[in-house]
Amino acid sequence: MRNKQYFDGIAPKWDELRRGFFSEAVKERALAKAQLQQGKTAADIGAGTGFITEGLVEGGLHVLAIDQSLTMLQIMKHKFSNAFSVQYCMGDAERLPVRTEAVDYVFANMCLHHVEHPAAAIHEMVRILNFEGMLVITDLDKHNFEFLTQERTDRWMGFKRDDVHTWFAESGLNNITVDYVGERCLVQSDCTDDYADISIFIASGVK
Ligand SMILES: C[S@@+](CC[C@H](N)C(=O)[O-])C[C@H]1O[C@@H](n2cnc3c(N)ncnc32)[C@H](O)[C@@H]1O
Repeated sequence: MRNKQYFDGIAPKWDELRRGFFSEAVKERALAKAQLQQGKTAADIGAGTGFITEGLVEGGLHVLAIDQSLTMLQIMKHKFSNAFSVQYCMGDAERLPVRTEAVDYVFANMCLHHVEHPAAAIHEMVRILNFEGMLVITDLDKHNFEFLTQERTDRWMGFKRDDVHTWFAESGLNNITVDYVGERCLVQSDCTDDYADISIFIASGVK
């Protein structure tokens, strides 16, 4: 609940904040990993104001943009008012409001460290994928910057890549890779001199 209120509150400033936290290269690498095919359908989980969704629309895909925060979705809808290929859905990553085997790709950028049960969320993402569909998750490697749990409502202080690999395998994915995406997440504490500098992983797997 605290997490949802936080994102509702910062939604109007999210694009500006995000530009300071991590670069467009994260999106470029996530989209490149999936080798997108025009006309296919993708879900963007924890879509926020549409960082990943924007790239999917530009690539000619139909997009289900899913987020727990109605305010985030409203801001995205306003930004992409001319994009008729986006469907906006309020929902929880652990109980996705999407039927089984409905999409060809699932993306989740910086959402996993906010969910209560990451393994359950991955399982849900795999459930909505078509046979041979691809899941691509970009998120934080394990870190020890505790202020992010207080100031940014992060539930998880990043993840061990081995754990992510295990959750992908347990969800039934094949051809799993979990690597450094080549970019870092940088966050200055609002209250202290703490400055988080965290590597970002990219995980992918095929159903
Ligand atoms: C750090 S923001 C990232 C937003 C976007 N993916 C981006 O890269 O700019 C995390 C987003 O995940 C959403 N979120 C957090 N927990 C969620 C959950 N359990 N289910 C759905 N969305 C969630 C938040 O509302 C927020 O919009």
